[in-house]
Amino acid sequence: MNKHNRTGTDFLQWALPELGYRWRGFRKPHAQVLQRIIERIHELELSGYKEYQTFLEHHPDEWKRLDQMLYVTISRFYRDRKLWDELATNILPRLVEGNAPELVVVWSAGCCNGEEPYSIAIAAHQSGMLDKITIIASDRYPHLLERAKIGLYPESALRELTPAERSRYFTYNDKLLEYRIDPVIRSSVHFEERNIRHSLADDFFHIIFCRNLVFTYFNNTEQIQLLAGFRNSLFNDGYLITGSKEQLPDEAGWIKPWANVPVYRKAP
Ligand SMILES: C[S@@+](CC[C@H](N)C(=O)[O-])C[C@H]1O[C@@H](n2cnc3c(N)ncnc32)[C@H](O)[C@@H]1O
Repeated sequence: MNKHNRTGTDFLQWALPELGYRWRGFRKPHAQVLQRIIERIHELELSGYKEYQTFLEHHPDEWKRLDQMLYVTISRFYRDRKLWDELATNILPRLVEGNAPELVVVWSAGCCNGEEPYSIAIAAHQSGMLDKITIIASDRYPHLLERAKIGLYPESALRELTPAERSRYFTYNDKLLEYRIDPVIRSSVHFEERNIRHSLADDFFHIIFCRNLVFTYFNNTEQIQLLAGFRNSLFNDGYLITGSKEQLPDEAGWIKPWANVPVYRKAP
């Protein structure tokens, strides 16, 4: 690690707790976040992190600006492959059968460029159930939602898909060197801008995907608050799906681990 990064990580370790985040989550992807902060430091014509810290201390409004820079955009299709097989073969059929003729409602919270909600649609299509579910996908950042709606991806985003899934659900664009998502899959997701800290989605859900966001980047107090919100938003017998390396806070006694994947089921 060079000197420049070291002072950047010192800055993050000082600033993150002030905004309800925890350093542990940002440790690995911190370079992505620091890149935005460096741009801001240049924009303000400051000389470094220390001066930016002083600027924050004298300009309380700047904290809002900083908060908007603290996000990570790592995602891919079928991230944590085992989960998606369980969803397609077990969870979705179970919910669709139990709720017919009503639609099964799924929320992808922190949907990034659309990789996660489109994976949900692909899994539902593979089990012949795409017309039996509604998929809502939200993110705090409009530019990510715009990208998601366009549905163009680099090859790296598809690396957990089988060759058959790639050719069934994507068309390669050799001018853009990117893969375009199938239009039926694309049109099956409803995107909305939402900051999960300030508002949960309005509906009740059968499945909430909250992966690699709250339980990675937010501090314990925020995690407990949002978990309580998820409890209210989930139907009995609904599922909360987290990232494979995430751990729920102790207050999660109302929700039980499901199978050998990062899935929890709300006890009926
Ligand atoms: C690391 S990505 C995870 C994407 C996807 N859920 C996955 O696991 O592959 C985190 C996403 O959460 C979004 N995000 C960060 N803070 C948010 C907030 N307060 N409200 C809603 N979305 C947020 C980011 O913009 C980013 O798209």
